[in-house]
Amino acid sequence: MVKAFAIDLGNGQVKARSEKRILIAPSMIANEKALGVGSVSNLEGEHDYNLYESKLKIGKKYVWGRDIKERIAHSDLMPTYTHHKRYESANFRLLFEFVLAELASDFNKKSIEVVLVASLPSDEVRTDVDKDLKSFLKGTHVITRNGSELVIDVVDVTINEQPLGTLLSENMNDKKQINKNVQTKTYTVFDFGAGTSIIDTYRGLKRIPELSDVLKTGQNDIYKQIATALKHDSGLSDVQYSQIEDGFRRGDHTAKISDRVHPSFGHLVDGPIDDFCEAVITKLNTIIPNRDIIDGFYITGGGANIVGDAFKSALQEHDATIEAAEPQLANLKGHYNLAILKRDQIHSMRKDEVAATKE
Ligand SMILES: Nc1ncnc2c1ncn2[C@@H]1O[C@H](COP(=O)(O)OP(=O)(O)OP(=O)(O)O)[C@@H](O)[C@H]1O
Ligand SMILES: [Mg+2]
Repeated sequence: MVKAFAIDLGNGQVKARSEKRILIAPSMIANEKALGVGSVSNLEGEHDYNLYESKLKIGKKYVWGRDIKERIAHSDLMPTYTHHKRYESANFRLLFEFVLAELASDFNKKSIEVVLVASLPSDEVRTDVDKDLKSFLKGTHVITRNGSELVIDVVDVTINEQPLGTLLSENMNDKKQINKNVQTKTYTVFDFGAGTSIIDTYRGLKRIPELSDVLKTGQNDIYKQIATALKHDSGLSDVQYSQIEDGFRRGDHTAKISDRVHPSFGHLVDGPIDDFCEAVITKLNTIIPNRDIIDGFYITGGGANIVGDAFKSALQEHDATIEAAEPQLANLKGHYNLAILKRDQIHSMRKDEVAATKE
């Protein structure tokens, strides 16, 4: 049986899904030695990271997993994201293999066949980048996870625009049939990511480049501004932007520097959020001066949890705006549904082939 996998490799976090689980973990990896001496021992208790080896870097071991940011010193974490030639970068490809291995490990098999739907920032789909990534992903990957070798044969790869996933997930029924409306109408999707903000317009599920753009600013820029303001405000010598991010995620709007020191930043959030929304609206007005041609708007991406309400007020299209359910996972859900459709097609093709040979 071929398995359906979907992977959305974001600037901040990897989101991935199979029939067994939904995986969310930082888009960062580290060398095994960053764990420090003896730290792999059981003394450390529960942890949520694993050790991986890939044929891409023979003789090297890497750590990756949900806990990686808590377990590894900031300076030892290797981000997989660069604006320059990201998809050729070794770390980016390694991370893709580790995600494949992680999903595959749930099936308790030495080798499995996979249909993969992966997604990229929209302006990179259907470029050389996309072609290179596809040819890297397709075929056999041999990855060692915690000492056990896994063989993953990727038999089919599709690479889609990230925000397309939200249009699909919001417009598919339980039988994975796509709503007729979305196949003819024109929608603009705002995807608020950690490092980018995407404004994408689709007509009949096809992206219209002239009515779309990718801003290279995202939620991280908001966190950074708040961190600077808080440093100034509280006289603290250092506040990391990830401490601001964590405060948003917990919902308590405090920066947890230590058990003793945890200043609130709630009074500092409105300015950066409003400025951010204004910048996105200004961009929108430049690329789509006449909004009358748009049938509706979608708000998605994890950042919708942070800027969603402010952005909706700034957009002033309340009746025509839909906020994706579970925005951080909405793109992934749509791409996963597509992977299931592809998997079923392959199954029925194989059945037909078997039937034909019997005749
Ligand atoms: N429930 C939540 N509450 C608060 N913040 C959240 C929540 N879920 C996600 N976020 C934040 O939203 C931001 C964007 O997350 P998302 O996973 O969409 O970004 P990404 O896909 O990694 O980035 P990019 O799209 O730029 O590549 C992150 O900073 C994340 O921490
Ligand atoms: Mg994203």
